[in-house]
Amino acid sequence: MSTPDDNQNTSSLWGGRFTEATDLFVQRFTASESFDRQLAAQDIEGSLAHAAMLHAVGVLTDDEAVAIQEGLKNVRDEIAAGTFDWRTDREDVHMNIEARLTELIGEAGKKLHTGRSRNDQVATDIRLWLRNAIDAISAELTRLQRGIVALAQTHATTIMPGFTHLQVAQPITFGHHMLAWNEMLERDWSRLQDCRDRLNQCPLGAAALAGTTFPIDREMTAEMLGFVHPTRNSLDSVSDRDFAIEFCAVAAIVTTHLSRMSEELVLWTSAQFNFIDIPDRFCTGSSIMPQKKNPDVPELVRGKSGRMNGHLMALLTLMKSQPLAYNKDNQEDKEPLFDAVKTLFDCLRAFADMVPALQPNTDNMRTAALQGFSTATDLADYLVRKGLPFRDAHEVVGKTVAHCVNRGIHLEDMSLADLQGFNQAIEEDVFSVLSLEGSVAARDHVGGTAPNQVIAAAQSALALLDQR
Ligand code: ARG
Repeated sequence: MSTPDDNQNTSSLWGGRFTEATDLFVQRFTASESFDRQLAAQDIEGSLAHAAMLHAVGVLTDDEAVAIQEGLKNVRDEIAAGTFDWRTDREDVHMNIEARLTELIGEAGKKLHTGRSRNDQVATDIRLWLRNAIDAISAELTRLQRGIVALAQTHATTIMPGFTHLQVAQPITFGHHMLAWNEMLERDWSRLQDCRDRLNQCPLGAAALAGTTFPIDREMTAEMLGFVHPTRNSLDSVSDRDFAIEFCAVAAIVTTHLSRMSEELVLWTSAQFNFIDIPDRFCTGSSIMPQKKNPDVPELVRGKSGRMNGHLMALLTLMKSQPLAYNKDNQEDKEPLFDAVKTLFDCLRAFADMVPALQPNTDNMRTAALQGFSTATDLADYLVRKGLPFRDAHEVVGKTVAHCVNRGIHLEDMSLADLQGFNQAIEEDVFSVLSLEGSVAARDHVGGTAPNQVIAAAQSALALLDQR
């Protein structure tokens, strides 16, 4: 919104080059301090390393280095205490901190920016910030996975219907279903680590775009900041935002997975399914319908995936067609990235808290698995073992199911004589095959739903989590 003083000039921070001060509205329009102040801790960490390096190579004297170090720590304390005076006329986090440093320590503060630019500075800050964020998110993801695997262990023998096309397909165990969720998240965890590994290089020293004329030691700053090595090309260093795009891509995939889990929870808590209860503390009621208990947490997480996809699109579009090297466009990387991190963390936190508290209604799940002729494939497999080709067995079972549908009975309600009417090869042992327990127990191979396989798979899943 424009105000009457928008065109009034203010004193310029840009020094000699400018003959008039920045338009006040332009100043507000171009400023980023209101959001990039989130990078303050990383900005100070980077400046401490840069100053220590300038001192080590002889660009700063002992006294200057000590003054800068003490001053930066004081700035850090002011920010932590909430007494720091953030100023829009100082544009961004970098210039706010540097200007305040100079206020506090005088001349030495003006030397901190030797051999660097805000371009390599901001690239460094975001990498440091995102690296921390990935670690926090990975820990929350791991907590969720532990909750899911624990449910799998408790419910390795709990029968539920497995679905394809949302139609009852074959019986599975609830534990097996939980381990499918875990697989999605296991891949997500490794995607996060890939992203972290690739971003873990230090752009400091690239300066504005071409490097610097000072005898800097890039290995030293990289090592001080916990990076594996300095970035290899100064132009790329200040313009690359792949890591932010990659993170948002991973975040979009994780949220897509969470939205699928959410959808299942929403279905399962409905009166029609009634497979699961979500404790009251994760639900809300209706302002008009007194009977309602709504699964708000999964619904909201399902909805968050829309915004996450938006952030990915925003960053891809931001970087598309940008010429080398740094462009001010890049300042637009922060708000999507910051929101993606916060949203993903919150979604994982909500799920990690809620999942261990889920209460499966095991009787209802079992009853649902009895519907829809879920053991029909087992009967066909049985006939194959008796010598029929699978296609013929499929045909026989199809007719048997049609017979049951007409009479309103389950397959296992049929007498042996009636079953033999469809195929003579059927014997008394067919009934163990038609039972839900027999059906799941028979899928006894790696990746199958047999309870002993589920128990073993949960063990391996836990072993992987323990290695983190
Ligand atoms: N606030 C800026 C950003 O986020 C810092 C870098 C500014 N560099 C420049 N040459 N204007 O991208």
